[in-house]
Amino acid sequence: MSSTPQRYLLPCTWLIFSCFLLHGGRVAAAGKVPAIIVFGDSSVDTGNNNFIPTIARSNFWPYGRDYANGLPTGRFSNGRLATDFISEAFGLPPSIPAYLDTNCTIDQLATGVSFASAATGLDNATAGVLSVITLGQQLAYFKEYTDRLKVAKGEAAAKEIIGEALYIWSIGTNDFIENYYNLPERRMQYTVGEYEAYLLGIAEAAIRRVHALGGRKMDFTGLTPMGCLPAERIGNRDNPGECNEQYNAVARTFNTKLQELVAKLNSQLPGLQLVFADTYQLLAAVVNRPADYGFENAVQGCCGTGLFEAGYFCSFSTSMLCGNANKYVFFDAIHPTEKMYKLLADTVINATLHVFM
Ligand SMILES: *[C@@H]1O[C@H](CO)[C@@H](O)[C@H](O)[C@H]1NC(C)=O
Ligand SMILES: *[C@@H]1O[C@H](CO)[C@@H](O)[C@H](O)[C@H]1NC(C)=O
Ligand SMILES: *[C@@H]1O[C@H](CO)[C@@H](O)[C@H](O)[C@H]1NC(C)=O
Repeated sequence: MSSTPQRYLLPCTWLIFSCFLLHGGRVAAAGKVPAIIVFGDSSVDTGNNNFIPTIARSNFWPYGRDYANGLPTGRFSNGRLATDFISEAFGLPPSIPAYLDTNCTIDQLATGVSFASAATGLDNATAGVLSVITLGQQLAYFKEYTDRLKVAKGEAAAKEIIGEALYIWSIGTNDFIENYYNLPERRMQYTVGEYEAYLLGIAEAAIRRVHALGGRKMDFTGLTPMGCLPAERIGNRDNPGECNEQYNAVARTFNTKLQELVAKLNSQLPGLQLVFADTYQLLAAVVNRPADYGFENAVQGCCGTGLFEAGYFCSFSTSMLCGNANKYVFFDAIHPTEKMYKLLADTVINATLHVFM
């Protein structure tokens, strides 16, 4: 049995007969990080939403066009996500399975798992917009996962995996673009500053919960310049087609407060090593000077979500699908291409690899 990288990219259904390779062959090479465990939104959902009733899905062409065998997996991109590249950089499999894929065995999930759900946020109300998985439910699944690990691997081995794993948080953008600025309720309740504090309180409780269950090594990825997503350029009433600078400013203040939270938790929680990854600067630089990074278009999504078109996601009927997604920063009106995800992954890898390996 060979184990080409391509094999590892396929979903668990195709991996059942080779999973001992993943398990047996890879753990040793993984050094001090035996697993990548992911919480968050569509930026890190590797297919969980395929298994719940919601329209926030991407398990159809042209999503996955540049993935193994051109397979749409539920990743909101043409190929792999940042977390897939991060897993590979840590010597783990090059794709992270979705927890709700029941074809994944606990052995397959023991080297990495995503609990993330596209369209969710820190705020329960954000998850409610498209009926997706709340952060609280992601944490409940994580608790269930730790129990399954203990049964499958024994108490000591499970404790080792949970304690040495790298936890990645990628969440918060939807609380603003899908919820706060899209629906009236939270805006009537909170100023932006108050809402940021509310969201960070939820983030803090979630981090404390994972710490209480044994997690120690963590990355919380900051917000990107969300005002420059193609969808927000389309929706920019004051300056149609331009970045929404108000949203970008919110991302920056949120990130500043998030860094304060990171410092506080590192000083309060025993053994915690929480890293903040600043992806804002990178995406801002790419959007300002795409050619410097090998891109030709940082304004429109590859799948035809042009400036004056409605619709955030790619669809079957897309008539304007681009030829080469590597020329684009964004694949649809919200989500980066695989090439952009690889760059974002490098930021997280640079911030975490030397700390945790
Ligand atoms: C799980 O595997 C079975 C058998 O190969 C397959 O029929 C089914 O579609 C798979 N389910 C998912 C969710 O991939
Ligand atoms: C979110 O909803 C869950 C389940 O209904 C609840 O337990 C939790 O307290 C809520 N979180 C917040 C911050 O309101
Ligand atoms: C990551 O670090 C490498 C080596 O130091 C550097 O070349 C690269 O530009 C960094 N990438 C990012 C996105 O920060």
